[in-house]
Amino acid sequence: PVNLQGRSFLKLLDFSTEEIKYLLDLSRQFKNLKLSRTPHRYLEGKNIVLLFEKTSTRTRCSFEVGAYDLGMNVTYLEPGTSQMGKKESVEDTVRVLGRFYDGIEYRGYSQELVEEMAAKAGVPVWNGLTDEFHPTQMLADVLTMEENLGNVKGLNLTFMGDARNNVANSLMVVSAKLGINFTACGPKELMPEEGLVETCRQIAEENGSTITLTDDVKKGCTGAHAIYTDIWVSMGEPDEVWEERIKLLEPYRVTKEVMEMGDKNAIFLHCLPSFHDTNTVIGQDIAKKFNITEMEVSDEVFESKQSKVFDEAENRMHTIKAIMYATLK
Ligand code: CP
Ligand code: NVA
Repeated sequence: PVNLQGRSFLKLLDFSTEEIKYLLDLSRQFKNLKLSRTPHRYLEGKNIVLLFEKTSTRTRCSFEVGAYDLGMNVTYLEPGTSQMGKKESVEDTVRVLGRFYDGIEYRGYSQELVEEMAAKAGVPVWNGLTDEFHPTQMLADVLTMEENLGNVKGLNLTFMGDARNNVANSLMVVSAKLGINFTACGPKELMPEEGLVETCRQIAEENGSTITLTDDVKKGCTGAHAIYTDIWVSMGEPDEVWEERIKLLEPYRVTKEVMEMGDKNAIFLHCLPSFHDTNTVIGQDIAKKFNITEMEVSDEVFESKQSKVFDEAENRMHTIKAIMYATLK
């Protein structure tokens, strides 16, 4: 039987296929409890702290609501509002917080740092996104695929766009672990790092699936059961990269034509936030500056029946609740 008590959740490479499936099972159970309004205050009286060095809507709120539903208390420290990293090293900060709290969520830049934190904290540390990985996101993505497509083993998942960002990396890992055929479709300049691709290929082979890298949209999307994209410039990257990114990534925008290349029941996924309608402060700014009206996904696809992005966002909460419960119970 799987037991994740006391474990940190830093990257999916640390978890076996069985452990990931266990977390997905648990997520489904928590979703049922929530939807049937059945109380589930299984962690009554515990305390957690959320440390964010980058902004967030879904991840922060998932941890907060998930914790409240489980009966826990939450402290949220927003970017730049504690001593951490300025007057005090992150290492000292977590050694202090580990004595107050039962669990620590961290969103920041360096994957290495979150791993060091976990080694020092004495309590579970959950990675709420680094430049390299976004592991909590993938449980919600897979849950959404299962809800719409059934068993995910053997399905084809294509990521379009900046295929070396945190979301693409984590998708490649979860695909390998669960036997999903993963395709990264984007320009050669933005392919995942070779070492990670090799690692994932080995894992995928054990689980009977493949990892494909291609710059050909037709090849990448034909027969896809799920087509996924993410914002073209990630948090922490300088604004100057937009110009180059738009040039490289415009051919990889997810449009109706792209969705039509996929399976007839194909779904569209996006971790969000999205610039699909450029109806945001930054989106408008970029659109005007570079004279474009659409970014990583067309409004038409985003708003289509195939788009499951809001189910996916909701599933963040159920899956993060499962992670907290499994590691703290
Ligand atoms: N998908 C995701 O992590 O969203 P937030 O940045 O809003 O947390
Ligand atoms: N790749 C994006 C994901 C946001 C949830 C970023 O890092 O900004």
